[in-house]
Amino acid sequence: MSAARARLGVLVSGSGSNLQALLDACAQADYPAEVACVVSNVPTAFALERARKARVPAVVLEHKAFSSRAEFEKALGEELRKAGVEWVCLAGFMRLLGADFLAGFPGRVLNIHPSLLPAFSGLHAQRQALERGVKIAGCTVHFVDAGMDTGAIIAQAAVPVLPEDDEASLSARILLEEHKLYPLAVRLAVTGKVTMQGARTRVDAPATLGELSLRSPGAPR
Ligand code: GAR
Repeated sequence: MSAARARLGVLVSGSGSNLQALLDACAQADYPAEVACVVSNVPTAFALERARKARVPAVVLEHKAFSSRAEFEKALGEELRKAGVEWVCLAGFMRLLGADFLAGFPGRVLNIHPSLLPAFSGLHAQRQALERGVKIAGCTVHFVDAGMDTGAIIAQAAVPVLPEDDEASLSARILLEEHKLYPLAVRLAVTGKVTMQGARTRVDAPATLGELSLRSPGAPR
């Protein structure tokens, strides 16, 4: 009999293309996780449609409906625990999570961000990269701490920034890498190959190291 699969709770606010990448990975028989529930803080998020199509329970928790951030996060934690969630994956979820929420899932909350952190944290990372004139951009999957995009880095992928790029074209190029990187990082995290050790990650198998820094498309491998 195969080992139990890790139960993921995926938090979304928008289109949910990263949710889709996780759903697609989880549809593979040998993937070590399954999406147990999806929670959106935005009722109109297209991500909810993707969850319904994949027959995954989806819940809307509008942060605006709660009297405080603490109340919202308490309800969020309860919803996730009710669904038996063990790991929380932020996939375009545009809210910061506080220490109390994170303490409920210690070392088990992951986020994907569209920059090579620690550069360009926060909103509009791709726009920040273009404004700064960097030649290489990318994405990062990291463990979440109470800071803004400051948690221990699990994996990164790079893409070139082309002279003719605008925010939309750069975002689309980064997104393609996000869809490969997130399922990879989740697999490594839930199987214990990468763990959070304070501000850094501990990598269990040296063979894993190459997977954690995907090289830019076109670069020799
Ligand atoms: C993705 O690019 C993700 O990295 C970013 O939002 C987009 C969501 O797309 N997240 C952040 O900027 C978090 N700070 P999606 O809804 O199609 O997955």
